[in-house]
Amino acid sequence: MAILLVSALLLLTPSQVAPDEDLLLKNVSILEVLKSEVGALSNTSEQYSTQVQPPGTSHHIPQTIIVGVRKGGTRALLEMLDIHPNIVVAATEVHFFDWDENYVKGIEWYRNLMPFSYENQITIEKTPGYFTSLHAPERIHDMNSSIKLLIILRDPTERVISDYTQVYYNRLENRKSVQRFEDIVIKNGALNTKYKAIQRSLYDVHMERWLKYFDLNQIHIVDGNTLIKQPLKELQKVEKFLNLPPKILSSNFYFNQTKGFYCIRSDGRERCLHESKGRPHPVVNRTVLEQLYSYFREHNRNFYKMVNQSFDWH
Ligand code: A3P
Repeated sequence: MAILLVSALLLLTPSQVAPDEDLLLKNVSILEVLKSEVGALSNTSEQYSTQVQPPGTSHHIPQTIIVGVRKGGTRALLEMLDIHPNIVVAATEVHFFDWDENYVKGIEWYRNLMPFSYENQITIEKTPGYFTSLHAPERIHDMNSSIKLLIILRDPTERVISDYTQVYYNRLENRKSVQRFEDIVIKNGALNTKYKAIQRSLYDVHMERWLKYFDLNQIHIVDGNTLIKQPLKELQKVEKFLNLPPKILSSNFYFNQTKGFYCIRSDGRERCLHESKGRPHPVVNRTVLEQLYSYFREHNRNFYKMVNQSFDWH
């Protein structure tokens, strides 16, 4: 499905979908971000102000939100769902429910950032920061208590390494010093459980907050490890969860050997995710890996019980 208005602003290149908006500065307004992204990508920022509203469309508050988790595969999930003709997606992370300075701008501000959509379409936005936010569950519930939520999760240790890798490259780009994974994760011979990346992987702790506000049947958990290897399988489950007719097909995906990941074929175009998605990870010391596996084991078991579902995590 063609991404309407907001995503159109990004003018996706054939080989790369949206840049990693996780890197965006928190205090920059979303519109400024959009304008700068358009300018940076295509030098056609004047197109931004000349976007026309297709007749019969309007901005709708999302009926579904991908609330996380950071580095779970949120961008891949969003872009793959965008193939569906009954789905429109917001191209950038909006951070409405987790950043107070955006939340105070009100629901109309939020609605206006959504792409134009027809009545028969579902609007989806994704902001991975919601999953670990203390306020997001209550605020989303206040907006729509019957909303459907998507959470994409992957092995918690793999997620920590992916999180580390993203920060590592960001720091390199900004010419800041970098540390080895092992030197951050182990402090004074013990696991550094204060490391934010480790805390974000405590899925049971975060899930507890969501289950205070939402029934389990309003939440669908996407297996991020499976999405990498068998995207169609996971997307068909999401179509069912959203009560949408099955429209995403195996022909919508092809495996790109160079990237090492599935890429998307739709609307006559082929495109892979941005190069910041699917980066090689560092080889981590075996003992450190075992320490992480064993730290997460109990949390994973708790999580499986909470959601009545188990995963293939270490
Ligand atoms: P890595 O870059 O560590 O491999 P998010 O979009 O939430 O930041 O998640 C990024 C992760 O999405 C990547 O982590 C990658 O493993 C995963 N991913 C899943 N499907 C992908 C795809 N088709 N192309 C690229 N990355 C994909």
